[in-house]
Amino acid sequence: MNKTLRKPAIAGNWKMNNTPQQTTALIEELKPLVKDATCDVIVCVPYIDLHAALAATKGSNVMVGAENCHWAESGAFTGEISAAMLKDIGVPYVIVGHSERRQYFGETDLTVRDRTRAALNAGLKVILCVGELKEQRLENITAEVVRMQTKLALKDVLESELDNIIIAYEPVWAIGTGLTATPEQANEVCAIIRDLVAELYGKTAADKMVVQYGGSMNEKNADELLGQPDIDGGLIGGASLVAAKFAAIVAAASK
Ligand code: PGA
Repeated sequence: MNKTLRKPAIAGNWKMNNTPQQTTALIEELKPLVKDATCDVIVCVPYIDLHAALAATKGSNVMVGAENCHWAESGAFTGEISAAMLKDIGVPYVIVGHSERRQYFGETDLTVRDRTRAALNAGLKVILCVGELKEQRLENITAEVVRMQTKLALKDVLESELDNIIIAYEPVWAIGTGLTATPEQANEVCAIIRDLVAELYGKTAADKMVVQYGGSMNEKNADELLGQPDIDGGLIGGASLVAAKFAAIVAAASK
């Protein structure tokens, strides 16, 4: 597979952190540190911080994402935000299917599929998260789990829409735990995802698909992870909350 066909993407996932004021401060600190990046740089922030993030990133190479969106266009879904609402205020990216949504908020492969579809319909770019639980890795069913999650999420996605999708492989046991998949483990699963994309859409589509690794990626291990042939970037939680750490990962992806 030819890595030069793909532009790496480093995305921060701030989760439930930072007020609007803190958002402005962190992005102002980050901007000069990542201005020469040759990879895509994205910060995914809580809904309430989106306006501040859009204002602070204006005119820079830092792009903004939300952390979720609903599958319906509008309606009686108290507490939810639609993809069209995100698009309307100028948000380009959205994370869908994060394991914390699956674990704590009843997200299923089918709701992930529907949210993905809704995001694409609204013209958003999707960071689609998949990954196995620790028990599933121990049972040696990582490939099956990740293939199933990815296949179901992409079920209604056309080949022409794949440019608007990044797939993030995030082993659940590695998220926020300090446990990172070894570069070989991470690469192996990213390659499995790419092979599945080839099965579903053909080799050209697979060669172009950006597949990130996420799970305790930091400024120390980024070089080695990002050096793997099938890893095209990262989805970064904890380390994205510190400008210098996130910038170091962006620098590693820009080599
Ligand atoms: P982490 O989170 O980098 O803190 O492990 C990654 C994620 O959940 O996207």
